[in-house]
Amino acid sequence: MRLGTPLSDTAVRVMLLGSGELGKEVAIELQRLGVEVVAVDRYANAPAMQVAHRSHVIPMTDPQVLNGVIMAEGPDIIVPEIEAIATDVLAMIEDAGMARVVPTARATQLTMNREGIRRLAAEELGLPTSPFAFAGSAEELAAGAEAVGYPCFVKPVMSSSGKGQSYVESPAAIGEAWAHAEASGRVAGGRVIVEGRIDFDYEITLLTVRSRGADGQTRTDFCAPIGHRQVKGDYVESWQPQAMSDAALKSAQEIAGKVTEALGGWGVFGVELFVKGDQVWFSEVSPRPHDTGLVTLATQTYSEFALHARAILGLPVDVTQREPGASAVIYGGMEATGVAFEGLAEALSVPTADLRLFGKPEAFERRRMGVATACGTTTDEARQRATEAASRVRVIKD
Ligand SMILES: Nc1ncnc2c1ncn2[C@@H]1O[C@H](COP(=O)(O)OP(=O)(O)OP(=O)(O)O)[C@@H](O)[C@H]1O
Ligand SMILES: [Mg+2]
Repeated sequence: MRLGTPLSDTAVRVMLLGSGELGKEVAIELQRLGVEVVAVDRYANAPAMQVAHRSHVIPMTDPQVLNGVIMAEGPDIIVPEIEAIATDVLAMIEDAGMARVVPTARATQLTMNREGIRRLAAEELGLPTSPFAFAGSAEELAAGAEAVGYPCFVKPVMSSSGKGQSYVESPAAIGEAWAHAEASGRVAGGRVIVEGRIDFDYEITLLTVRSRGADGQTRTDFCAPIGHRQVKGDYVESWQPQAMSDAALKSAQEIAGKVTEALGGWGVFGVELFVKGDQVWFSEVSPRPHDTGLVTLATQTYSEFALHARAILGLPVDVTQREPGASAVIYGGMEATGVAFEGLAEALSVPTADLRLFGKPEAFERRRMGVATACGTTTDEARQRATEAASRVRVIKD
């Protein structure tokens, strides 16, 4: 592996497809190694664009436009940050040997659609999952819900962050769930997954890193498990480590090892798992850093973003956790452009507290605008501090 000088003939050029807050941290880590960073997203001044060498605003779901930008930039490595991308283009680029797609083009294809990854996990790999069915109409959904049992979750097959999801307790609410999924699913087509509810004790993200080992072979490392709390399908708080029984941790690592091996390539994966006692279920996986992993900015020697940067460049990783910590999300709380943040001194006077303000040009009520992190002697202390720090930040617009 060799790195060069950005903006010169020796540059190693990385193109980020998606330029949100997770991409911003990856871009910063790449910048630290002198990598040339090109940030792409569908809106201007996205977080990662603000720390990149160049940026492009394009509809990333348009194959022709996406292909054009890739051809014009000629990146060595393409790093998808979100799922809504014309992934067939990535497969073509990878096949032609024009760039390396992180972690692999196939992984981005399988994980952009809940059907692809669920069938791989449950049917091909035989991993434990919630009971599930797919449906393309309200009638099929009603039948699927009967089969998996109530209560159940209904999710558009192409969606993230809880968009278009419903928690359905009885057949009476199925029509509404279908309409909600159709209205807010990211891509038209109206296909949903219905999943029986897993009555878990807690849920975790197991950050799993595939990297080039000293012997040249790919190796797999697991970060300490991250616990998190979701509201309406979106994470509001995370902490590391989540206490687990040895048996549950072993089972979680086995599941994460299998699913990430099947997806292949190098990089960080966020494997989402449900845990009850010693029992573990696979839920889903992001072939990239995970939002709940923002906590690693405070807890690990190398954050998930630094680990991703190193792994994709073929460099060794170190997943050591230094101390317990937590993260708490700061929401927009309003619809406005160019908001300001107050209460920062108060927030940062909470012991060990730190902040990331993402620089998003526009705020929405439930848009993640920043995050507070904190450490502690226990995760409980860290959670209390992070939540306190986040609550002291006020988003304002005059
Ligand atoms: N089958 C299930 N049983 C119990 N809880 C579930 C189930 N499916 C989803 N949930 C809850 O809803 C949350 C969001 O679901 P999921 O991760 O599938 O959606 P998502 O839109 O991809 O969310 P994100 O993008 O934030 O990861 C889960 O983290 C979990 O708390
Ligand atoms: Mg999820």
